[in-house]
Amino acid sequence: MNKIEGRSLQLAYTDVGAGPAVVLLHGYPFNRSMWREQVEELRGSYRVIAPGVRGHGESKVAPPPATMEEMAADVSTLLERLNISRAVIGGLSMGGYVALAFYRLFPERVRSLILADTRAQADTDEGKRNRAVQEEKALQEGMEVIADSLLPKLLTVETIANRPDIVKRLREMMVKTAPEGAAAALQGMAQRRDQTSFLSRIISPTLIIVGREDSITPVAEAEMMHREMPGSRLEIVENAGHVSNMEQPTEFNRVLLKFLHDLGG
Ligand code: MLT
Repeated sequence: MNKIEGRSLQLAYTDVGAGPAVVLLHGYPFNRSMWREQVEELRGSYRVIAPGVRGHGESKVAPPPATMEEMAADVSTLLERLNISRAVIGGLSMGGYVALAFYRLFPERVRSLILADTRAQADTDEGKRNRAVQEEKALQEGMEVIADSLLPKLLTVETIANRPDIVKRLREMMVKTAPEGAAAALQGMAQRRDQTSFLSRIISPTLIIVGREDSITPVAEAEMMHREMPGSRLEIVENAGHVSNMEQPTEFNRVLLKFLHDLGG
């Protein structure tokens, strides 16, 4: 396993393939294995870096809150250690919050952005209260409880009924996440800033992808980002919910590859 270690940092990461660098940041409370199909598809033409976000997978849990800015700085440290000066920065959901924070902090290092099943707004007050409840639950009752309550919101009804393999894979990812890592990320997400007014200043080409049936970050959020971002392309993936890359990997990869191809080498 690839790992970088710093004073308070220990990140596990995937680094495969050769070509222009593409970073893929996973969502909460998953891990880098959620990108399996994208890594396999891209590695023939791109260098794919998929870090475990702090507190998730094999990456170390840091004291709460795990802010989006700290997660973005972790990615920057990783890229420096790998001698990558510019990269396509992509993220799904929480990974998308981190990708936006990365752009705000290190715009010169972003070749383009991929924002999948994510949003630019901060949490509402109700959303923040719900994060606190989830944090308590994760710490007191464990990740099984979190996984069981999240699963029906992450996938389409169709996937839940007919794709036990996807349900199992997603559930296993969630129950493997350390409750303390999940709690730190929940605090970080609750504190994240609203990035809506910043969208129009993003000049990098951006791919926005969303599952048609995403109930956590719905199509309307993606459409709003698309309206605000002059250089963006919007792709809606049919028959997919919040983890569109896992539910419809073929279509997700098709739009991803087309976008990367259109960027040129
Ligand atoms: C995620 O998939 O990363 C989460 O649903 C994001 C969130 O809870 O806001």
